[in-house]
Amino acid sequence: EKAGHKHFMAKEIHEQPQTLADVIAAYTDGDRIVPPAAYDWAATDRVQMVACGTAQIACSVAKYWFESLARLPVDVDIASEYRYREGPVGADNTALFVSQSGETADTLAALRYAKGKARAILAVVNVAESTIARDSDVVFPIHAGVEVGVASTKAFVNQLAVLLSLAIHAGVQRGLIDATREAELVAGFRALPGLISSALAIEDRCEALASRLAEASDILFLGRGPMYPMAHEGALKLKEISYIHAEAYASGELKHGPIALVDKTLPVVVFAPMDAIFDKTISNMQEVMARDGQVLLVTDAQGAAQASDGVWEVLTMPRVDPIFAPIVYAVPAQLLAYHTAVQKGTDVDQPRNLAKSVTVE
Ligand code: F6R
Repeated sequence: EKAGHKHFMAKEIHEQPQTLADVIAAYTDGDRIVPPAAYDWAATDRVQMVACGTAQIACSVAKYWFESLARLPVDVDIASEYRYREGPVGADNTALFVSQSGETADTLAALRYAKGKARAILAVVNVAESTIARDSDVVFPIHAGVEVGVASTKAFVNQLAVLLSLAIHAGVQRGLIDATREAELVAGFRALPGLISSALAIEDRCEALASRLAEASDILFLGRGPMYPMAHEGALKLKEISYIHAEAYASGELKHGPIALVDKTLPVVVFAPMDAIFDKTISNMQEVMARDGQVLLVTDAQGAAQASDGVWEVLTMPRVDPIFAPIVYAVPAQLLAYHTAVQKGTDVDQPRNLAKSVTVE
């Protein structure tokens, strides 16, 4: 049942080229993005995205996509905060809930708060017959298949894929993306399963680094732009399954506090694909190295050629269009956590104190 893998989590990480191909097939048709359910993104003025845990991190990545590709403002909330805050929900706002299980108590309560206030209730779910799906106006399935490991992997990647296709589709409907650009983006999508397969080739390196990471008591994750929420994903996965304390910071926030933590005992994982803000992230990374922080730089060959001097280790990822980079950089977030946990001998698939579906508040 684990298809030759030691854990369900490993199996699910390795399934991602296939599960990603499945969701891309469901959201594309020829040169176009065609979501399986219709929604008029030109008729809304703002999107409130609400979820818990990893699903909330997927929303935080999607904010960058919706704002840049569709010029739609996005507010991202943690469901347990949103449900009690009594925040305003405009009649032209779209409320979008993301949940693998579709049963998370706080997300469901948040949905019920928005119902009747927002223009529409949208759900991005894995379990299509779940309560959250049933209570929504428009349902976008993620087609990840059953996910057994408590730490979400393939569902997170497919949540990202669905949210990116919706952002592109919104950009098309709002007149910001023409047919040529849409076709380019669809081609980019179709290249993703192959890029995920290439990214999985860093596994041996992650395994080798895990013995060092497993000795740390704290690990810092840094990133800018959509790599900032990806830093959160790296930290969350690591905490959940290896029980090592990890924290994520936006690279630019380093000097506003967390740099005080840096010394030679602190591994700092930096997610920095070559993009328009690469140099900014690298200068923050150099501030860490100047204080003897042990930097693990996750970048592509171009980034490695420019910035690997003095870093502890470099993980070289395939080159990817910055728009799609978060989907590919989910792989190092997962593999670093997985191998560190295996090294520590924890119960990877059933980490202590956690449940797959959190149906109580
Ligand atoms: C982390 C993880 C959790 C879930 C969260 C929401 O790896 O799996 O943080 O993402 O409990 O669950 P769903 O998506 O079922 O609402």
